[in-house]
Formats: sequence, C-alpha cells, structure tokens
Amino acid sequence: MSSLPQEHPRPRIAVILAAGKGTRMRSSLPKVLHQAAGRPLLAWVVEAARAAGCARILIVVGHGAEQVREEITGNDIGWVEQAEQRGTGHALAQAEGEVHEQATLLVLSGDVPLVAPDTLDRLARTAEEGWGALAVTEMDDPGSLGRVITAPDGGLEDIVEAREASAEIRKVRQGNAGIYALSAPEIFEYLRRVKPDNAQGELYLTHAVRDAARDGRPVRLITLADPDEGLGVNDRAELARVHRLLLDRHLQALMKAGVTILEPGRTVIEPGVRVGEDTVVHPGVSLLGHTSVGRECTIHQGSWLRDTAVADRVDIAPYSILDGAEVGDGCRVGPFARLRPASRLLGGARVGNFVEVKGSEIAAGAKVNHLSYVGDAKVGEGANLGAGVVTCNYDGVRKHVTEIGAGAFIGSDTMLVAPVKVGAGASTAAGSIITKDVPEGALAVGRVRQKNLEGWAGGLRRRRESKEEEP
Ligand code: UD1
Ligand code: MG
Repeated sequence: MSSLPQEHPRPRIAVILAAGKGTRMRSSLPKVLHQAAGRPLLAWVVEAARAAGCARILIVVGHGAEQVREEITGNDIGWVEQAEQRGTGHALAQAEGEVHEQATLLVLSGDVPLVAPDTLDRLARTAEEGWGALAVTEMDDPGSLGRVITAPDGGLEDIVEAREASAEIRKVRQGNAGIYALSAPEIFEYLRRVKPDNAQGELYLTHAVRDAARDGRPVRLITLADPDEGLGVNDRAELARVHRLLLDRHLQALMKAGVTILEPGRTVIEPGVRVGEDTVVHPGVSLLGHTSVGRECTIHQGSWLRDTAVADRVDIAPYSILDGAEVGDGCRVGPFARLRPASRLLGGARVGNFVEVKGSEIAAGAKVNHLSYVGDAKVGEGANLGAGVVTCNYDGVRKHVTEIGAGAFIGSDTMLVAPVKVGAGASTAAGSIITKDVPEGALAVGRVRQKNLEGWAGGLRRRRESKEEEP
C-alpha cells in the first residue's frame, strides 16, 4: 500500500469500531481477529489507517478486548473500552475522552478490511474542506447495508438501515460502507443527542451524521470506485470472499511484475511475500508469511512455504514443505521434501524425495536425495548421502551435532550416531552404524560382516520333507 504525505491541516485520527461480538461468525474468537490473507481483519484496517497518514489510531474494543489487544500492537494505537455494545454511535462516543484537539476522525469498521488508503485520504480531504464525508458503495442490491439518501445538492440527506427501510427505500442503490471522515469535536455533540429510537434500541452513528447534515454541516458522499472496498465480514462466507479478494490483489500485482501464476484461483501468496521475475508458480502452492522467492524459480504443485527465503533459479518439486528455511541459488528440493526451521541449503544443493532436514546446513553441491533425516548437521560441499541415511541426533535428553566433510560419501542406510564427525572425502559402508569419528579419506564399516552358508537352502528343504513323512 502506498504511503501518503503526512501534512494535513488538522490531525487525522482513526477510530476503528471493533467491539461487536460478530455473532454470525459462530466463533469463540472475536470477529475482528479472524484472519484473511494471513492477517487479522483488524490488522488490515489498522494498516490502511496508517498509510492514510493517521497520527493516532484509536480502537474501540469490547467483546474479547484482551485478546484483541494482544494481537494488534503499535505505538500509535490507543485502546478505548466499550463495555456494553449499544450501537455504532455509542461505540464512537466512547472515544471522546481520547480526542483532545480539533481533528478529522476517520471512523472505520474493524470488519471492513479492503478499504484502501487513498479512499481514506479522499474522505479526509473532503471532510477537511467541509465538515464530513462518507463512503458509498453503489450496487444493484446493497443487501444488508444502510441505504444512503442523497440530498438535492448531492450531499447526505439520510441513512436508513436496511432492516428499517420501506420496500421503496430498499431499492436505493447507494449503500453505506460504514467508513466516514468526521470533524471533532462537533461529532461528539451530535452523538450525545442521538436517541435509541429503532427496533434494536441502539445508538446509531448514522443518525448523528444525518443530524449534523440537517444542521447545515456539509456531509459529502464519496462513491467507492471499487465497491469491494466496502465489503464487510459478518459470517464465514464473507470472510472467504474477502480473503480471496485480498490475495487476488497481491497475485495481480505479482503477475504485473513478471511472475507466472498458472492458476491464480488455486494459489495462495500472502501479501507479505515477494516473488522475483520469471518465477513460475503452479496450482495448489501456498507462499506464506515472510517468504521470499527469487527469479526464475519454479514452485511446483502443492508446495507449502512459510517464512522461507528462496534464492534464484531454484526448483521446488511437488508437495514439498519448507518452513523457516533458506535455499540458495540453483538448489533442487523435493518432491515430498520437508525443510524445517533453520535448514540452510547452499548453492546447487539437492534435497530429494521424502527427506527431512532440520537445523542443518547443506553446503554447495551436496546431495541428500532419498528417504533421509538430517538434523543438527553440517554437510560439506559436494558430499553425497545415500538413501535412508539418518543422523541420530537425539539421545533422549540432548540434541547432538553430526559433521560430514566435503566430498564425503555416506552409504545408504548409514546411521550417524551424534555427536560424530565424518572427515572430508571419507566413506561409510551401506548399513553402517557410525558411533566413532571417521578420519579424512577413510572407509568406515560399522556392520556385521556377511557370512554365506553354502548349500544351506537344500538342507532346509530335506529337513522339512523328512518331518512331513513322520507318522
Ligand atoms: C453498520 C451501519 C450501516 C452500514 C454498515 C456497513 C449503523 C447503525 N449502521 O451496520 O449503515 O451499512 O455498518 O458495514 O451504523 N460496533 C461496536 N460497538 C457496537 C456496535 C458495533 O464497536 O455497539 C462495531 C462492530 O464491531 C463493527 C462495526 O461497529 O466492526 C459495525 O457494526 P455492525 O453491527 O456490523 O453494523 P451493521 O449492522 O453492519
Ligand atoms: Mg457489519
């Protein structure tokens, strides 16, 4: 999101209404903490307010207040308690004690996360020129939104809640997005005069705004260029919709920047994730959190990456899981590989099928291709680990380190019982259990020597046959 200039005639203060219970979510989690595109709904609103140049952000909390405070942080945030939820007007009124100066209040809803900073900037500028402004969503059927009635001069005449509107008023195409810029301290005066004269017995913010307009304070209407900006989340279906829209914004931006996303509708790339030019992302991929992917990479079907740094020209084969890992230039990972936190693959390293790596560095050109576990290890340049090699890093109490030197060859099914070191260029015989350090260039054989019993199979057959003949 773009950052807008900070200089305004009056300070801009955001007040985010977030005290509601969100009953239709049917959840023990406060509604505004439900995640869309990897962040709580409320975090999106806070970010938009910051980008629109709000010096302070007041958040009105009630239901699940403690939890909300823990999740959303920042020095610019002030908390306002609304102990009993008596309506949007009552919610905003609780913030009065925190607003000491003449200010433009950007009043937002914690459950309307798609609002864009430049819309907020436009609203604020309009309010700064006159007195107030509200965002209008224009659509054939604004559904549950309040209907905005326009005055002959184009300003606000009234806002009628859908549930209280006549059939005629319900046909109005202008919906109240629930996003306002209003001048303080006057708005608090109008809020004090609002009566709970509606079926809900609530104090409506919309009534205070209407009353101000009737009192000659200009309240302008700003139509949202993108009606999605006004989408609110009241149930899980709306949450899914908003999640998808937030992702799509980012996917579109990435595609514009030269990333191929074969099936955007089946791809999750969270907004914090960076992807370089000419990288190809296949369907069913999730790139989450602080992940970054370089140029000319291919991320194949079904791979899941979180907080992982991938360099350039990396190939991640299908169904690999990378969590908190670092993957260097030209590496190949998967299919079905799992890189756990603090795994570092350096240039051209290869981690293949059904291999798990944790807290290990795998140096340039080293290969771990099949069915291995590599934990707390340092694997030297160009080393090769055969199928089924396991670093036995845990003795039941502590974790220990395995060191494998450059160019070492670890035979299939070797158990490396840590702490242990295999010197550069050394080998281990397949099936060995290595409990002692292996010197550079040596071959370690840590298994029972093979013994062949000649003719043994024929003897067994004879013994069986003679048993069957017994009476
Ligand atoms: C409100 C508007 C409606 C508008 C719609 C846009 C009113 C009376 N109606 O209706 O015109 O079209 O938003 O989405 O304002 N909240 C509190 N404390 C309360 C009540 C609500 O903090 O006592 C918060 C909620 O957590 C929510 C926001 O205010 O974030 C909006 O409240 P909600 O109950 O969703 O209002 P709507 O019925 O959607
Ligand atoms: Mg709502």
